[in-house]
Amino acid sequence: MAKQRVLSGIQPTGRAHIGNYLGAFVNWVQDQRVNDSIFLIVDLHGLTVESDRDAMRAATLDMAATLFAVGIDPSDATVVIQSHVPGHAQLGWVMECTATYGELSRMTQFKEKSKGLSKVRAGLFTYPALMAADILLYHADLVPVGDDQTQHLELARDLAIRFNNAYGETFTVPRAQRVSHGSRVMDLANPLQKMSKSASSPQGIIFLSDSDDEVARKIARAKTDTFNEVAYLPDDPERSGITNLLEMLGALTVKPPEECAVEYSGYGQLKKALTETLVELLAPIRTRFELYQNDPAELVRLLEQGAVRANEIASETVWDVYDRLGLVGVAGR
Ligand code: TRP
Repeated sequence: MAKQRVLSGIQPTGRAHIGNYLGAFVNWVQDQRVNDSIFLIVDLHGLTVESDRDAMRAATLDMAATLFAVGIDPSDATVVIQSHVPGHAQLGWVMECTATYGELSRMTQFKEKSKGLSKVRAGLFTYPALMAADILLYHADLVPVGDDQTQHLELARDLAIRFNNAYGETFTVPRAQRVSHGSRVMDLANPLQKMSKSASSPQGIIFLSDSDDEVARKIARAKTDTFNEVAYLPDDPERSGITNLLEMLGALTVKPPEECAVEYSGYGQLKKALTETLVELLAPIRTRFELYQNDPAELVRLLEQGAVRANEIASETVWDVYDRLGLVGVAGR
């Protein structure tokens, strides 16, 4: 059977954390040999809100180094910076002209993200059209997404179908690959909220670059409860702290969280086990990350290699789409 093409994207904002790792990266690494995978670092999406030149540069290169450090193998998967492939912007415009104002107005993430901003960039509004282009450009079959992106993926499917109906079979209609519940990591300080780069305090976040001491300190301070009983009761919000610790340990050791629960008699023991597991996971990732940081030329070489491959696929799609739309091609096409 031909390999399925899997495509996912991540924004280059801030440092990657254990939520990104368990919610996305582990699956990407696991599936990279089975599938034909493309991983995008979506820097153009990062321009939808205020951004700073130095921060953008650093975050983009850091994210690339992180992906290679966690085990994405450039000989199996394509890692590419979105702006290295002009086809994203080209097809993005076509998708803006395929989507309607009404459709984009219904996107709940736009409503949330634009709330309270005094100046809302037009790109924040049209962002889902660019995301559709990211996916359709490569004829992706599967897109691993968390809950917050399902509406955007649904739009990408609608746009693919609409374009195909109007201009003939052009795009593969992508399917969502739902990320499993256990891989959703919550904030350590506020376990009712998803661990997120935009959280107000870094205390609730385990960054992949955290030192052993930082990991130990953050886990030690992680919010628990006063039940003093290690039990896996995911439906009880009062126990959300322990639920989160058990789910993290379960995901890291590939065991159901209820099995982890019976192994520990106290919160201290559970936290100690989780700290040790995290430290063991993160140490080699940190070492590989530093390797790329110290050898930016190698990092750039890998990204150029990704860009060449991605451009080959993307430019074919763009010319096909332009032709179907009646845009007159250049000589040789
Ligand atoms: N919108 C996604 C997010 O904020 C990132 C993203 C951009 C993406 N393009 C994509 C994800 C294409 C999957 C496929 O998380």
